[in-house]
Amino acid sequence: MKVVLGVSGGIAAYKACELLRLFTESGHEVRVVPTREALKFVGAPTWAALSGHPVSAEVWDDVHEVPHVRIGKGADLVVVAPATADVLARAAHGLAGDLLTNTLLTATCPVVFAPAMHTEMWQHAATRANVATLRSRGAVVIDPAAGRLTGADTGPGRLPDPAEIFQACLRVLAGRPRDLAGRKVVVSAGGTREAIDPVRFIGNRSSGLQGYALARTAAARGAEVTLVAANVTLPDPAGAAIVRVESTAELREAVLSASADADVVVMAAAVADFRPESRHDAKIKKTDGEPEAIRLVKNPDILAELGERRRAARTALTDGDREAGPGAVPPRVIVGFAAETHDVLANGQAKLARKGCDLLVVNQVGEGLAFGTAGNAATVLVAGGEAVEVPFGPKEDLADVVWDLVAARLP
Ligand SMILES: Cc1cc2nc3c(=O)[nH]c(=O)nc-3n(C[C@H](O)[C@H](O)[C@H](O)COP(=O)(O)O)c2cc1C
Repeated sequence: MKVVLGVSGGIAAYKACELLRLFTESGHEVRVVPTREALKFVGAPTWAALSGHPVSAEVWDDVHEVPHVRIGKGADLVVVAPATADVLARAAHGLAGDLLTNTLLTATCPVVFAPAMHTEMWQHAATRANVATLRSRGAVVIDPAAGRLTGADTGPGRLPDPAEIFQACLRVLAGRPRDLAGRKVVVSAGGTREAIDPVRFIGNRSSGLQGYALARTAAARGAEVTLVAANVTLPDPAGAAIVRVESTAELREAVLSASADADVVVMAAAVADFRPESRHDAKIKKTDGEPEAIRLVKNPDILAELGERRRAARTALTDGDREAGPGAVPPRVIVGFAAETHDVLANGQAKLARKGCDLLVVNQVGEGLAFGTAGNAATVLVAGGEAVEVPFGPKEDLADVVWDLVAARLP
């Protein structure tokens, strides 16, 4: 595929070198089009050597080849990373003062922007309006990650990890549907930890890979994603707002608050069923003698609570609301996960009936199965009877099956 990598003048321009490598090493032909300001951060020789193509920011070089039209028209994808506040504004307003903005005006292929800037610039009304304009024209604008910015400051505005931008671009190239555009989804991922004392906890083997794949694919399909991540060390998925939690109580609070106006909640996190009845304030020492037994108490069942809250809200609907159908009550679709070591389907069916969710993804777990692996196999049980088998494959594939089923259930 022919990819145009637009690079604008932000401090994260150096990270685009890695994005370029990811494209070229997977067989894509990449033409880099930097802005003049981008060349102050990373020079043309770097882009030319890494891409194998000449590099210019101007429409006046190699004019006989009419690059200001030809590059955009010949592209299968244009990705601008990092996209400065300035380049977003120029693209939104159709300005064409350099080769990159000419290319954006002549491209008929999908366009992806990966903005990076200081939080104040990202949150400014002008930038918000420019992003909305670009999205309304069909461009994919990946929300920046939160984290360390140019100086000592932190906040939303950081360029997502190049590998995450690359994955988002591959999804756009593969023509994934944008059927979750305008939908608000909440995904929980990872595994909760229950403290025994300040240094020890009871945890589980969940890596967060499946939840992160769900968040990444939902964002690629256009959803506004809140990812509630419990103890996950993976790179932030491009385009998701992340809330980090540790314990089940924290995860419950974050999920319930984010799901109040959500269209979809997917509970992919492995939530501890039990926690120690009490937490020691100081580290339990070997010298304290024989350890005392740890008494466990039950944690709240968040999936059942989501289902119960929705059931109660549906019952309380006024006659007028009821005419809008059960879909009037958020979350419109609730998806649970069941990790089972034996009697997988029977346990899954029983859990689906008990929890009041719409879909239940059932998978077998154990050593080398599901936890921490790149792939997964599962059965998705649908309330009402259907069961969809998903053969072993990348966790993104399972995620896409889940979103297909979810999209079909959204009003
Ligand atoms: C050290 C430094 C870092 C900058 N980082 C960013 C940035 O991350 N995002 C941004 O929007 N602008 C940033 N700017 C401001 C842009 O470089 C400036 O708006 C420039 O006009 C952008 O031009 P371009 O969009 O044509 O590349 C930075 C400027 C400097 C001097």
